[in-house]
Amino acid sequence: MMGVAYPIIGAPMFLISYEELVTAVATAGGLGALPLPNFRTVEDLKKTLQNIRKKTDKPIGVNIHLSGKFQWKKQLALCLDFGVKFFITSLGDPRLILEDVHANGGKVFADVVSLGQGLKARESGVDGLIAVGAGAGGHAGRTSTMVLVPYLKSKVGLPVVAAGGISTGAQMAAAIALGACAVVVGTRLVATDESRAILVYKEAIVAAGPDDIVCTDRITGNPANWLSKSIENFEKMPELGSKKWKALWSAGQSVAQAEDIRPAGLVIAKMVEEYMHTCKELGQSVTDV
Ligand SMILES: Cc1cc2nc3c(=O)[nH]c(=O)nc-3n(C[C@H](O)[C@H](O)[C@H](O)COP(=O)(O)O)c2cc1C
Repeated sequence: MMGVAYPIIGAPMFLISYEELVTAVATAGGLGALPLPNFRTVEDLKKTLQNIRKKTDKPIGVNIHLSGKFQWKKQLALCLDFGVKFFITSLGDPRLILEDVHANGGKVFADVVSLGQGLKARESGVDGLIAVGAGAGGHAGRTSTMVLVPYLKSKVGLPVVAAGGISTGAQMAAAIALGACAVVVGTRLVATDESRAILVYKEAIVAAGPDDIVCTDRITGNPANWLSKSIENFEKMPELGSKKWKALWSAGQSVAQAEDIRPAGLVIAKMVEEYMHTCKELGQSVTDV
């Protein structure tokens, strides 16, 4: 659908995914995605898109917020000018962008955490869903990825991308086996050379286990997963643009599989290698009687 070698989306992550990570994921054969709230001005976004396009002409995606807080019309026009083909909507009505994105040959997928949200997104005409399962980094729902992906696939009938707890080739194989058309990798990519997370945050992800992750709506008003120690001193979300965000570390349960800080391209390459190996092994796991 998107013309990428591998069905792996490098998650758009607030204050983490910028040109370095997007380019690294795209160059490795995945689809790198930028969260547009990273950019205070349309001019900043333009510079980033120019820098990405200097390094790669591979397909890229963005997470666009349509809540009215951002200049989404200008952001949209700019992204379309730079050939962005994949739009992830999280807040706001996807109908606002569908016509323009489709006219430019792109696709719109909506982040959803439940059947209710999935049906609403289908009604609005999106091309597919991103099923964000429990334990995902960032905002997440309560249903495990293992259950949410086939549930949405059968009840909504749109292509479903799996997000939440996926960072190895075996986890990717499981998601594809469940009917996902692609996977999103977030937390694992925070601990990479190209992520803009500060070093102690990357190191905390490598050191953490799933029990160090807490899901709470205390910070943003919506349930999200955090490294528990990092939110001890926060009662609520800092203002957008505040330096305090640097101390708030979102991460999902897939910290369990983050064993080192490495280049993002190697994370993708290892996933693909492991995916192929897993599929081969699975084919040999039963014998005819
Ligand atoms: C630090 C961090 C920031 C995130 N920021 C965003 C964001 O700005 N927009 C978005 O659509 N998703 C955001 N997410 C969620 C990811 O897009 C993705 O759904 C999630 O990371 C997948 O689960 P995983 O972390 O288990 O791989 C964020 C995730 C993390 C870890």
